[in-house]
Order: sequence, then C-alpha cells, then structure tokens
Amino acid sequence: MIVYFSATGNSKYAAERIAAAINDRAISIEDDCYDIVLGDGECLGIVMPTHFWALPVPMKDYLQKMKLHRQGRHYIFTVSTYGTTAGCSGEEARHLLRDNNIRLSAAFQIKMPDNWTVAFDLSDKKKVEEQNRKAEKNIDRVIAMILDRKKGNFTHLRTPYMVYPITSKLFDKVRVTKNLTVEDSCIGCGLCAQKCPVRAIEIQNGKPVWVKERCALCFRCLHHCPKFAIQFGNGATKKHGQYTNPNVKI
Ligand SMILES: Cc1cc2nc3c(=O)[nH]c(=O)nc-3n(C[C@H](O)[C@H](O)[C@H](O)COP(=O)(O)O)c2cc1C
Ligand code: SF4
Ligand code: SF4
Repeated sequence: MIVYFSATGNSKYAAERIAAAINDRAISIEDDCYDIVLGDGECLGIVMPTHFWALPVPMKDYLQKMKLHRQGRHYIFTVSTYGTTAGCSGEEARHLLRDNNIRLSAAFQIKMPDNWTVAFDLSDKKKVEEQNRKAEKNIDRVIAMILDRKKGNFTHLRTPYMVYPITSKLFDKVRVTKNLTVEDSCIGCGLCAQKCPVRAIEIQNGKPVWVKERCALCFRCLHHCPKFAIQFGNGATKKHGQYTNPNVKI
C-alpha cells in the first residue's frame, strides 16, 4: 500500500505512479487510513512533499498515529517530492517510525516543480511543463529502485538531522495564518475551506477567515483558489503564479 499527503498533486501523482508499478493502491492519509495491514513480502510506501527541509505537518502527525499490523518480512520506504532539497525529511520519517516501532527500509526523493511560490516562479507554463517532463524520469528511477527493494537513504543534498530543531522552530514561526491574506477578487465559493487539510479556514460573511493561529502551510488553498485570491506574505506569490500537478486532481 502507498499512503500519501499532497497539497498540489505532485506527491499524489508520484504515489499513483509508484502504486501502479508495484500493483498496489495509493491512499490519501486524509482518508483516515490509520490501520495498515501488511502481509508477508508486502510494501508500505509513504509519499509526501518536503516542507521546510522536513516532513509536512499532516504526515508527521500521521506517522505518529498510524498502526501497522504485519506478518513476515516487509519493505517500507518514503518518497519525498521536493523542488531544491528534501532536507532531512527521510531521516525525520525514520525517527518517527522508529518511535512507532516501525523500521524504515529506504528513503527516496523525486524532484518536481517547487510550489513554495514565495521564492519560486511557476508563472511560465512552458518551464513548468519541462520540469514535469523531467520529473517523469525521476519517478521512473525511483520505481526501479523500489522494484529492486534497495535499502538505504537515497536522498541527496540532505540537511543534517541535527539542524531539524532549528528549521522546525523557523517553520512554526512562518506558518502562522496571519501571513495568509485574501484579496477582494474572492467570490466566497468556499473551496479553500473545503480543501484545507487541517480545517484552518471557515467562510464567514462570504469570505475565508483563518480560525487557527497556525496551519500546515501546505499552500493547497493558495494554489487551488479559482480567483487566485489567496496570497502569502509580501506579495511575491502573486507574481509567481498558481500551480497544480496537471496529471491528478486533489
Ligand atoms: C511551505 C512549503 C515549504 C517547502 N519547503 C521545501 C523545502 O524545504 N525543500 C524543497 O525542495 N521543496 C520545498 N517545498 C516544495 C514542495 O516540497 C514541492 O513542490 C512538492 O513537490 C509539492 O508536493 P505536493 O504537490 O504533493 O504538495 C515547499 C513547499 C511548501 C508549500
Ligand atoms: S477559494 Fe478563493 S474564491 Fe473561493 S472562497 Fe476561498 S479565497 Fe474565496
Ligand atoms: S490554510 Fe491553506 S496553507 Fe494552511 S493548511 Fe489550510 S490549505 Fe494549507
């Protein structure tokens, strides 16, 4: 089984490609799949984006709560999709799984368009198409390693796990919802509230209101808004465009 978290579709697409290649199914962790049953020789794949050089908040919570019911030998791997570096996400997953009595066999990474549009410009559709074409090869490469049941950490340009407490604190500072704003072009459709994985948005008087101090900062709302009315921070996100993976729907 492949379990995934995905805000803009990259990780969902990678999870579905991997599942098809190993004759298995891909399930979103938002579908409450906390009990995983693995028979002898079966695989568990865990696929997610990299957020601030580490795991996304929903995946971190999931790995702490998940219960694995297993028999015999099994192969458990993570795949971090990323734009510049997967940081220490593989290592973080290894630690969380170990605390949950689960041994990680391998950690992989797949480079895909970087949806952190605070820093990365995804407004040129041709360039984004090219990045997605290259991603196909990266997915194929990871699938080949999974089929060979390779063991080890195959993420590169890693940040040492030692720095995780620092980057994690930084992420906690950045993911305060007051950094997310809504423009007048909002039509009050409610999609952002429906799609938020941590229910941080409510529609009040026809406009989104962030009802939690912090959210997962996954950018799903920003990239899915039909009016591109949600922005983050100083306005760079407006210039850098919206992105969703063209091959899947979230
Ligand atoms: C808040 C946030 C932080 C991110 N941090 C990183 C990062 O540290 N390193 C990186 O390479 N990509 C980073 N990204 C980019 C995503 O990991 C990448 O685009 C991923 O493929 C998105 O997957 P998804 O479409 O499944 O959500 C970040 C994206 C967001 C929204
Ligand atoms: S998705 Fe966009 S248009 Fe719809 S309510 Fe949210 S901000 Fe407004
Ligand atoms: S408010 Fe937006 S960025 Fe924050 S977790 Fe919800 S969908 Fe993601």
